[in-house]
Amino acid sequence: MSSLLAEKKILFGITGSIAIYKTVDWIRSLVKEEAQVKVVMTEAATRFVTGLTFAALSGNRVYESMFDPLDQELIPHINLAREADLILIAPATAQTIARLAHGLAEDLLSAIVLASRAKIMICPTMNSQMYNHPATKQNLATLKKYGYTVIEPESGLMACGEEGPGRLPEWPMVHKKILESFTPQDLRDKSILITAGPTHEPIDPVRFLGNRSSGKMGYALAATASRRGADVTLVSGPVNLAPLPGVKTIQVKTAREMHHEVLNCFNDADIVIKAAAVADFRPEIEADQKIKKSDSATSLNLIPNPDILFELGQLRKTRKKPLVLVGFAAESDNHLEEGRRKLKEKNLDLLAINDIMAADSGFDVDTNRITLLSRNGGEEELPLLSKEETAMRIWDQVVKL
Ligand SMILES: Cc1cc2nc3c(=O)[nH]c(=O)nc-3n(C[C@H](O)[C@H](O)[C@H](O)COP(=O)(O)O)c2cc1C
Repeated sequence: MSSLLAEKKILFGITGSIAIYKTVDWIRSLVKEEAQVKVVMTEAATRFVTGLTFAALSGNRVYESMFDPLDQELIPHINLAREADLILIAPATAQTIARLAHGLAEDLLSAIVLASRAKIMICPTMNSQMYNHPATKQNLATLKKYGYTVIEPESGLMACGEEGPGRLPEWPMVHKKILESFTPQDLRDKSILITAGPTHEPIDPVRFLGNRSSGKMGYALAATASRRGADVTLVSGPVNLAPLPGVKTIQVKTAREMHHEVLNCFNDADIVIKAAAVADFRPEIEADQKIKKSDSATSLNLIPNPDILFELGQLRKTRKKPLVLVGFAAESDNHLEEGRRKLKEKNLDLLAINDIMAADSGFDVDTNRITLLSRNGGEEELPLLSKEETAMRIWDQVVKL
């Protein structure tokens, strides 16, 4: 399954900051995603590390000078500027930022930026006094005016011992911005509510009733919606997945907690996708103490949980703001018939049906094979895809709606 970054030409500019060491991993991640990475180092950057590590990881020679005898016939700054799809400068020193803001072209990296029509992304990284200085602030404002993406630094303890803004952001945030730069922003300004994962229905303080949902599909929907520009709120049951940068995540355990949070957020949402596997039933009684082996009770009395999706389908009838409501159904037989029935009964616009009997689809795997049914009778059977690609296809349908 192909990566969004496959064949993308990324010019990675590295400048003289102590945070350089962190970018070694970033280059490895980009190459793993099949991006073609070329590294340009400023002279100051080469004082911190040699280009050898970056050359070995990127699989390309590293460029360090405008006047390298190796490039006599190539005019390196123009060639590198022309071929890049994206120029990422990380870490970006105060010095390099000042050069770029003033259109200087005294070294290879700044000359490339000046000569390029590629998207440009900057990660300012420096001591917080330097970052907060009006000169740096003004230079960064100028870069934003030029249309460059400036990724805000993180706050915290820095190598110099001071605390404040100026730290290189973590890779998941930068990675998200890179993917975003190659993705149409067709969900911009849309407020999207997504649910993900299983729910845990307590039996006693140590036991619960759960299900095999991993949350991967809901998280893939949230990550891709955010990448397409949406403002995403994710209500997540207990899962083992890394938090998503830029996504507001509300953690819940039970169906009733999920119900409460979803209703709280419902009025603001333009689009709601319920990808969580919410338990239909819960134990009638939650024991205060751990039930002992010697206790005589061997059966559990179950009572129904609220049907959140059904409720949203009813609430939309009186809601003024337009809504796109999407559900998921995990079916083991009679998929299409069951799907059509649910679509109508729950008053949905779109229903994604999972075949949970296939080993490569449904719960706790990285791939999915779904059929999309729409209110107007449409039916689209998607091939086996990664959950991320499946999510992108669902958003394509939602955008049409
Ligand atoms: C140990 C050390 C760490 C440094 N870290 C930073 C930094 O994080 N950010 C920054 O703007 N400058 C930092 N500097 C200063 C820059 O290296 C210096 O301003 C240099 O001229 C930057 O040149 P360049 O932008 O061409 O790479 C550091 C210098 C030293 C000696």
